[in-house]
Amino acid sequence: MHVVIINGSPRVQKYSNTEKIIASFTKGLSEKGVSFEAYAISNRKSWEMIRDAYIKNEEILIALPLYVECVPGLLLEFLETLPKKDEHTRLSFLLQSGFAEGCQLRCGEEFLSKLPGYLGVRYGGCLVKGDNFGIRVLDEEKQKQVTKPYQAMGELFAEGDGFFREEAKKFTGPEYLSLPMRLLMQFAFKTFQKKIFQKVAASWGCNTPLDYKVLGN
Ligand SMILES: Cc1cc2nc3c(=O)[nH]c(=O)nc-3n(C[C@H](O)[C@H](O)[C@H](O)COP(=O)(O)O)c2cc1C
Repeated sequence: MHVVIINGSPRVQKYSNTEKIIASFTKGLSEKGVSFEAYAISNRKSWEMIRDAYIKNEEILIALPLYVECVPGLLLEFLETLPKKDEHTRLSFLLQSGFAEGCQLRCGEEFLSKLPGYLGVRYGGCLVKGDNFGIRVLDEEKQKQVTKPYQAMGELFAEGDGFFREEAKKFTGPEYLSLPMRLLMQFAFKTFQKKIFQKVAASWGCNTPLDYKVLGN
């Protein structure tokens, strides 16, 4: 098997969480002797090359972050440039997000499950997992630790059944967080979170209050 992997995040590769996840996933592919070529849509100049790889190959995986409950706008724009192919091509997805609960990725997953049909190709399933907000702010060692579970999913994908196997479904984790955890998070959001965000913003050189609004004339 040879897989074309497309990072569908608008974020430049260096800062993209999806990119770190792909690095771990492809380790799993390599472990199982599967070759791959990887691309990212964040640089529009590479779109022609990516489209060409999509046309010439039959195993395609789009890895993407959830943006505002669904697919990033830039990825939609890229997808609109793809030509129709036939069922010899299989299109699978790796959908990842910030918030941890599986339930909030289901709208995106549903959208993605319809997409192969529009492109005339076969659907290979969608790997769904949240809790990835912080990857890019961790040091390299921690990033590797946090993204390590995706390696096993690369190994699973290499076996050829896409993401339809039970192991892939379980990978999502909890559909809903437990009630005590939800209450704890609500408390944290109402108390510490604003202060933490303000501190992070200040470390990036922003000293204006985060709820500041520019008033119109
Ligand atoms: C504009 C924007 C919208 C987002 N919307 C959601 C969302 O609706 N739900 C969620 O869980 N995470 C959301 N996130 C978090 C991203 O899915 C998460 O941080 C992801 O790991 C980013 O991957 P990337 O760095 O490759 O773009 C959003 C992030 C951004 C920048």
